[in-house]
Amino acid sequence: MAYRIHSFDEYLAAYHKSVEDPAGFWGEIAQTFTWSKKWNDVLQWDFDGPDIKWFVGGTCNITENCLDRHLEKRGNKLALIWEPNDPKERFQRYTYKELHRKVCQMANILKRNGISKGDRVCIYLPMIPELLIASLACARLGAVHSVVFAGFSAQSLSDRINDSKCKMVITSDGAFRGAKELPIKRVVDEALEDCPSVKKVLVVNRTNWGLDLVPGRDVYYHEELAHVGDECPAQPMDAEDNLFILYTSGSTGKPKGVVHTCGGYMVYVGYTFQNVFQYDESDIYWCTADIGWITGHSYIVYGPLLNGATTLMFEGIPTYPDPGRFWQVCDKHSVNIFYTAPTAIRSLMAAGDEHVMSYHLNSLKVIGTVGEPINEEAWHWYNIHVGKERCPVVDTWWQTETGGIMISALGNLCPTKPSYAGLPLPGVQAVLLTNEGKEITQNHVEGFLAIKFPWPSIIRTTYGDHTRCRETYFSKFKGYYLTGDGAKRDQNGMYRIIGRVDDVINVSGHRFGTAEIENAINADPHVAESAVVGYPHPIKGQGIYAYVICKKQPGNEENLRGEICETVAQQIGPIARPDKIQFVSGLPKTRSGKIMRRILRKVAEGEPENLGDITTLLDPLVVEEIVKGAM
Ligand code: PRX
Repeated sequence: MAYRIHSFDEYLAAYHKSVEDPAGFWGEIAQTFTWSKKWNDVLQWDFDGPDIKWFVGGTCNITENCLDRHLEKRGNKLALIWEPNDPKERFQRYTYKELHRKVCQMANILKRNGISKGDRVCIYLPMIPELLIASLACARLGAVHSVVFAGFSAQSLSDRINDSKCKMVITSDGAFRGAKELPIKRVVDEALEDCPSVKKVLVVNRTNWGLDLVPGRDVYYHEELAHVGDECPAQPMDAEDNLFILYTSGSTGKPKGVVHTCGGYMVYVGYTFQNVFQYDESDIYWCTADIGWITGHSYIVYGPLLNGATTLMFEGIPTYPDPGRFWQVCDKHSVNIFYTAPTAIRSLMAAGDEHVMSYHLNSLKVIGTVGEPINEEAWHWYNIHVGKERCPVVDTWWQTETGGIMISALGNLCPTKPSYAGLPLPGVQAVLLTNEGKEITQNHVEGFLAIKFPWPSIIRTTYGDHTRCRETYFSKFKGYYLTGDGAKRDQNGMYRIIGRVDDVINVSGHRFGTAEIENAINADPHVAESAVVGYPHPIKGQGIYAYVICKKQPGNEENLRGEICETVAQQIGPIARPDKIQFVSGLPKTRSGKIMRRILRKVAEGEPENLGDITTLLDPLVVEEIVKGAM
């Protein structure tokens, strides 16, 4: 690709150019993509609105760039390898030609069922090829996809469907995940009891349960296929038309729908995929994330396909049928680039080296991590046992809101350092700010991580609530995009992400707002009030510690803990279940009624001797009780 960086010097030159002349820099990269109409202006922006536009006036369709433009040269090249949950089931392969056909057929099915440009379509599917195909089919028509991770509860699903008034849901009968079978369609049916905007449900058969469908609303994908052709023209989209909505948790209220648009997102994820992974034409690339999260959107679906790569999609979990599964799949498909999460690395590390030792992993060239800080021990284990000390470890820092990777090494071109994400990518003007919002210019410092200039895939808005977008990211420190993370910068300008500085907990790389979990706990009829904090967890990175005040003294505490966990699973999903629940008679509050989370965090972290000043508390005695009862 024309935008490939080949050396550290080229990285420095690209970085310099991207700061001196952002429009020239991104304009040149954008020209390597297919546009139906060229843009007039590369960039118009104002962080106060925020009002950010890239490739203004240009039109394109991202699926033409992911599929059609590869057909001539790479039509018979593998676009997708799908590895099922059960290693005994046959894997599937799709060439670019076949994937193009599948996407066109699916797009025609959506059209046949009333979907057109601008409509929102919710996709609630396990990791089967139809998840990738459905996302691209929406993009082909200009329908806005909202993929919801298929582990979320009916309540979470209906909240997300209603927030963006989706017209259709694409789902499956069931799902296979490890040793479990999950009733996906049943969750959708429950969610839809309260979703008036949904007119159609498209059901893909995965478990072949032969479910009864709701007449007039539900249609089977395999039956619809008989009625459609395999050509579907791509809808030309304005560069700033919405491409997708992806819900993510913040420190307050319900999850918000992060909106990404067509042109800038395409250019940025295409560029970053190529350079971070130093992708070569014949590489097999595997990202183990779920497409329900941003990592899957950008680096399973769009980034690889924009580059004509072969992307591997895995239905299962790292420990099924045993903790050697990832490595078995790497050897089986000769994976060259492997991208996973620190939590997976830690859990496989804990399972014992023998599981990785039995695979040769000769094909690997670059290995990456994403989603949370990686501790040094896990970094070294990954480097030694998986990368065999010959593969660069790219620790990629970014967010749902950034759309693509922001701080990372570029393959083996840049220096790497355990637990450091490294240097910002070209186009990323990262800064550290003090409490007062002043830029810290020297090195060897710590501060709030912010970005002071737009990059093409920056969040455009939070769906249906632009004020929330402004207040969350652009208000506290004027003129900056505020990430919500704290970071260190070493003497060489490399960044180490410390973690969230707001009320967001990162559990196994998944974000939850403390308020969101508290609301779920409070929905339990026994609970009067609760406060949730994160604490260091050896596998998950952070665990969820809940302090709960009950309406009545609990009879059997263990039973009640189980019940509260069940409530949370129903309200949000099993991944948000608290790890520890401590019953308390009160919470440490200031005289104005604010919960002092600092104290709760210290107790949860097992450092009750470092509580700091507690004299401003309404009732200091409550702290004594909390410290005594700590788990
Ligand atoms: O705290 C940072 C952490 O994950 C947050 C973003 O979460 P989400 O939007 O769900 O996206 C995750 C996948 C891109 C960040 O604010 N985070 C992400 N990557 C890293 C990280 N923390 C440290 N190191 C990383 N490489």
